[in-house]
Amino acid sequence: MEPKQLIAKAVEARKLSYSPYSHFAVGAALLCKDGSVFVGANIENSSYPLCMCAERNAIYNAYLNGKKKEDLVAMALSADTDEPCSPCGACRQVLSELFPKDAPIYMSNLKGEVKETNIEELLPFAFSEDALK
Ligand code: THU
Repeated sequence: MEPKQLIAKAVEARKLSYSPYSHFAVGAALLCKDGSVFVGANIENSSYPLCMCAERNAIYNAYLNGKKKEDLVAMALSADTDEPCSPCGACRQVLSELFPKDAPIYMSNLKGEVKETNIEELLPFAFSEDALK
């Protein structure tokens, strides 16, 4: 699947966002080796700290459908931002453990702008399980 198609799926998933508090809808789509795609959107709550981001919902969705880190090949996210939407710190931490470190992450916005990166670039010196040994 081309990056453009994965980004289109993130834009589509964004429509599933439940964001009555921030009015900031985010969509994410995660591509697997077998061609399957798992999506996520941000889901908010009146108890604000319980809000869940699109990227974490997408990766948890993949894992809950039996996928593992080695099955994942790319992720796209999109929001109505001036610059391509960048994943928050909490999502970076989760991706650093559950998503391959050099797999492409396509940050995008509704203007069609795209920035390609990866989790190693987004979160250098990540806290990891190594510290717990
Ligand atoms: N949000 C995401 O879904 N992903 C990000 O990477 C940034 C923030 C959501 C959380 C909240 O529902 C809304 O956007 C405003 O912060």
